Amino acid sequence: MSQEDIHDLFTLGLLHDIGYEFLEEKNYKTHNIVGGNILKKQGFKYWKEVYYHGVANYKYQSKVLDLLNWADMRVDSSGNIVSLDERLEDISVRHNTPINQLDSYIIAYELKTKGFM
Ligand SMILES: [Fe+2]
Repeated sequence: MSQEDIHDLFTLGLLHDIGYEFLEEKNYKTHNIVGGNILKKQGFKYWKEVYYHGVANYKYQSKVLDLLNWADMRVDSSGNIVSLDERLEDISVRHNTPINQLDSYIIAYELKTKGFM
């Protein structure tokens, strides 16, 4: 991976949840779409990864999207590195949704089958 690629991925990590900044309520179901559209307007290279992150069963796939989703599953909302189970529990509690009904649960399973975890 080139230094430029590393910088691009670092920027992606910083910007991937920017959609929350433009929502009146923290709606995790739409923050990715809002953020992806904003970054698309800006010409950001990985706007699709932002648009589709955290969403299960979409046709768009890329290695960078897998990497973003994997990283997102290993860092909690406070920036701490956590286990997959801890992250799923955190998301489940914050969104008041059973773990096995989370898109993140499906994504984690997909990433496991791809050898990420
Ligand atoms: Fe997100």
